[in-house]
Amino acid sequence: MKTAARREKIEFFGLQGTSPPPPRIPTTITEFDRVLGGGLVPASAVLVGGDPGIGKSTLLLQASAALGAAGQRVLYISGEESIDQIRLRAVRLGLTSAPLHLAAATQLGDILGSFEKFPDAKLVVIDSIQTMWTDGVDSAPGSVTQVRAAAFELIRAAKTQGFALMLVGHVTKEGSLAGPRVLEHMVDVVLHFEGDRGHQFRILRGVKNRFGATDEIGVFEMTGAGLAEVANPSALFLAERRGNVSGSAVFAGLEGSRPVLVEIQALLSQNAGGAPRRSVIGWDSGRLAMLLAVLETRCGLKLAMNDVYLNVAGGLRVTEPAADMAVAAALISAAADVPTDPGMVFFGEIGLSGELRQVAQAELRVKEAAKLGFVSAASPKRVAGGSARPSVPPAIKLVEIGHLTDLVGVVSSGVKRRIASGDSNG
Ligand code: TYD
Ligand code: MG
Repeated sequence: MKTAARREKIEFFGLQGTSPPPPRIPTTITEFDRVLGGGLVPASAVLVGGDPGIGKSTLLLQASAALGAAGQRVLYISGEESIDQIRLRAVRLGLTSAPLHLAAATQLGDILGSFEKFPDAKLVVIDSIQTMWTDGVDSAPGSVTQVRAAAFELIRAAKTQGFALMLVGHVTKEGSLAGPRVLEHMVDVVLHFEGDRGHQFRILRGVKNRFGATDEIGVFEMTGAGLAEVANPSALFLAERRGNVSGSAVFAGLEGSRPVLVEIQALLSQNAGGAPRRSVIGWDSGRLAMLLAVLETRCGLKLAMNDVYLNVAGGLRVTEPAADMAVAAALISAAADVPTDPGMVFFGEIGLSGELRQVAQAELRVKEAAKLGFVSAASPKRVAGGSARPSVPPAIKLVEIGHLTDLVGVVSSGVKRRIASGDSNG
């Protein structure tokens, strides 16, 4: 009887027809909005994960304050910190005058009940979902069942009342969001806040986004007064680069729609016996193993007896295969003990026979390199019928590489360059 009544309520639609794009509420923090796909979407749920101490609470307090200052009603509910602690942080961030509704609470019933007082709330922040608990579930706070139940109730409230919900989620040692994996399935957007404790910058990365692209990143710098946006990440990632050192090459990369230049560093050392070490930070170790094999087999570089260390400087994690050429250049440079040309950037994917393959957005990469003062770019050689020659700013010379052996030539020519310029460094 009941099911029959339900069945009549279901309506079916075609794919045609116009659904307007979801409305957006910009947080006014540009780097944040970029990752969200243009701002917060009403009646949606966002999960922000990250290591303890990375800056999640700081980021969300700054975003909440910015929205509050823009005239939107924002509720910030913390289960981890007292009101005093949050106020202290606000003092440090210079945000004490922002209109916000703060609460320290963990009991879900109380929290859901309090929403009735603010039917016009645009954003509700829950810091963190692991501290929330509900009477209805008979297990400890932080347990999988509690986290799932609390998230379910909060998301339902967001959908029915129309506010954007941001949940802070803790990350386990293994790097996955603690609690149920199912949390990632329940929300519309999953963001990871990453960074290396030794470095001041932080990266907000989209992992899942039902309303936008997931390959965008937002770059921030943790300062004494909170997170500052980094509008030009390339300059930041290259800031500590020293010229004239072997084993370093600049990769002209792409993070979402934005070109980002990073330094790739390689170090080879004689293996002291046993299996040679392969240590990688910021890149895929399987990919490194493949490149080493290709360098050995196709170019005769003898690396099997060396320990190999590879590092993406500054703590960025690079996932693009386009980084192959820069990694290879760094390895060749380390093996030959010759610095790569300090004015050159590298990009291109490498195949198993040692051939260079085209990658997307060559023009954007080269333009960014020109902007930062580089004068040449090693890029994959175009094949007949392949993609058109990228239109390159006059300040940059394109060095087309067809095969890894050509790259060995280009990198090793640094020896001649050094002799010619009378430079005895390196
Ligand atoms: P926090 O936002 O509390 O991290 P999370 O919520 O992810 O655990 O930030 C923690 C660190 O950030 C803390 O170690 C101190 C540092 N910090 C600054 O360097 N500057 C600041 O202005 C603030 C608020 C924090
Ligand atoms: Mg916190």
